[in-house]
Amino acid sequence: MTITTNSPQETEKFGIKLSQKLTGGDILLLSGDLGAGKTALVKGIAKGLGIQNEITSPTFTLMNIYDIKDKKRKIETMVHIDTYRLKHEKELLEIGVEDYLGKDNTVCLVEWPEKIINILKNKALNKEKMKIINIEHSQDSNQRKITIS
Ligand SMILES: Nc1ncnc2c1ncn2[C@@H]1O[C@H](COP(=O)(O)OP(=O)(O)O)[C@@H](O)[C@H]1O
Ligand SMILES: [Mg+2]
Repeated sequence: MTITTNSPQETEKFGIKLSQKLTGGDILLLSGDLGAGKTALVKGIAKGLGIQNEITSPTFTLMNIYDIKDKKRKIETMVHIDTYRLKHEKELLEIGVEDYLGKDNTVCLVEWPEKIINILKNKALNKEKMKIINIEHSQDSNQRKITIS
């Protein structure tokens, strides 16, 4: 499925819609260049999950953890991972990423999933819960193509 958005607001809105389909244990792999709109999409998903905190990319902390107080579904936690500055996958293991990935009550959103291929290949993770979302970026306009496969 591919959709086109024409502003960051539209991408956020799509994120809100997408959030309604999420269930605990889901892992969304957000791929796309710098400035594609991965974080914009995360902002929408967070809003849709009832998170009121401002979402900023965990560029240096690698992983931000949000408590979901408005528990409409069984999702209690949203984890936002950004591996852009990651040098070794073990850095993410050291801060406990495996306590969250694929856990029943948790949704994980991963920017730059290509950088943690080995962690994602772990046999303990249910591959059916992983969805790849690709955001295609056009340099000279606000148009983005978002593909879910
Ligand atoms: N349709 C769109 N969807 C998302 N972001 C857009 C769109 N059009 C323009 N932008 C801009 O592109 C940038 C996306 O930034 P961000 O979400 O941080 O990207 P990423 O996390 O992929 O690096 C923002 O500056 C945003 O205002
Ligand atoms: Mg980002």
